[in-house]
Amino acid sequence: MNSNAQIIEKIREMEKLIASGAILDAPDNEPERQYYFMAKLKEYVAGVKERLGRALYACTKTFGCQMNARDSEKLEGILKVIGYETTESEKADFVIYNTCTVRENANLKVYGHLGLLSNYKKKNPDMMICMCGCMMQEEHVVEKIKKSYRFVDLVFGTHNIYKFAELLYDRVSQNSMIIDIWKDTDRVVEELPIERKFSFKSGVNIMFGCNNFCSYCIVPYVRGRERSREPEDIIAEIKKLAEDGVVEIMLLGQNVNSYGKNLENPMTFAQLLKEVEKIDGIERIRFMTSHPKDLSDELIEVMAASKKICRQLHLPVQSGSSRILKIMNRHYDKEHYLKLVEKIKKAMPDISLSTDIIVGFPGETEEDFEDTMDVVRKVKYDSAFTFIYSKRSGTPAAAMEEQIPEEVVKERFDRLLAEVQSGANERTARFEGQVKKALVEDVNTQLEGYVTGRLESSMVVHFPGDSSLIGKIVDVELTEAKGFYFIGKQREI
Ligand code: SAH
Ligand code: SF4
Ligand code: F3S
Repeated sequence: MNSNAQIIEKIREMEKLIASGAILDAPDNEPERQYYFMAKLKEYVAGVKERLGRALYACTKTFGCQMNARDSEKLEGILKVIGYETTESEKADFVIYNTCTVRENANLKVYGHLGLLSNYKKKNPDMMICMCGCMMQEEHVVEKIKKSYRFVDLVFGTHNIYKFAELLYDRVSQNSMIIDIWKDTDRVVEELPIERKFSFKSGVNIMFGCNNFCSYCIVPYVRGRERSREPEDIIAEIKKLAEDGVVEIMLLGQNVNSYGKNLENPMTFAQLLKEVEKIDGIERIRFMTSHPKDLSDELIEVMAASKKICRQLHLPVQSGSSRILKIMNRHYDKEHYLKLVEKIKKAMPDISLSTDIIVGFPGETEEDFEDTMDVVRKVKYDSAFTFIYSKRSGTPAAAMEEQIPEEVVKERFDRLLAEVQSGANERTARFEGQVKKALVEDVNTQLEGYVTGRLESSMVVHFPGDSSLIGKIVDVELTEAKGFYFIGKQREI
């Protein structure tokens, strides 16, 4: 029986206990308390389905990073258990927005969508709308929802996501808008149902929150203080995933390099990786994100010696200017970063590096920006995510004078993008003609008769094949480099 099936079985047992009268009220301990509410909701949803004479559909829209994507899988797990079918369409009976607020535009998108939803709800009075995620941790957002979006049914934040079933039960039994936001938490609730998006790969949270307070960033305010999961829980989860057929895992945290520091029995991230490596069935290990200030020699050694850890590292630089990096509170400078990259490349010459860069941080001069361009030229990233600085209220950078005019930022952004692209094209070409392992993820929707696989470097290759290959790791000759991707053909061995 797979891990999710075991949890579903426990929820069934809870249903029986409720039906027999052995359990009258919700238990206090977790996760049993949530199992109780899931059992109750199952009954409720069955009732609505009977009244309407049809199935009920739920749609989860996820914004933001991999942590949010993983959280959405947990929400979908609960929705499935209580009786909803999944759909991509927002004209559903249940719509959840799992929001991101790292940049202003992520935030604005959500309000645009909400307007649409109010129309759908007028046509379907049984529709439920739920808002959660990072945006909800901001007071002004919740105030706005309360005032201008009264049709929203349920609002909760990042710290109490494990209580989704309980909050939803409150909503259906009280019939009024439920809002529950916590400022922080030190709790990590395990053993809740999860509906994974992919059968063959999965994210695994190893820590939550962030303590770094980079001066531009809102994440520490909305995700709370850093908490590491116990290594035994992480290993147990990955073992179960491997039993379920998962071959690739991505260890997730805002700064994985500081994993384990606050555990009762401290453990380094490199030590955790060594344990994960031992798990049979797992063939590829990735992780993100690595903060350059905490990347240890031990980690480089473990990576270099590993057969399973992908030769890929996401190492956000944010800026190439030591002066700006100091104001950003990143705790490293240009020289340290370049030295680190050198060390990594020396240990793993085939490493694929990617990064995040912010353009237009307050006070950024042309000289500062040139330093960023210099780093891009020197490091030769395979890919880079470039962002225009976005002012997040409450962060120290938002109060800084000298915010950079839009046209200056735009012009620098375009120059950076051109540099990143030409560098990446050059980098991709180095693999042309080689045979590499690719994990087949999907059939290609644009090229008929092709599938899409992901290389260790995280780049994709399209090659002739069919759906029977999905989830398999195969050898592919990279016949043609096309900038950010490859065309290839499978090699039989
Ligand atoms: N914990 C990760 C990053 C998480 S946020 C790290 O430290 O590397 C993802 C990326 O969003 C960041 O790396 C940064 O480049 C970008 N970002 C964060 N705040 C931003 C802001 N206010 N404006 C523009 N980009 C921002
Ligand atoms: Fe934000 Fe910095 Fe934490 Fe990353 S390390 S989430 S950029 S505060
Ligand atoms: Fe966004 Fe929250 Fe992730 S703000 S980037 S979804 S941690």
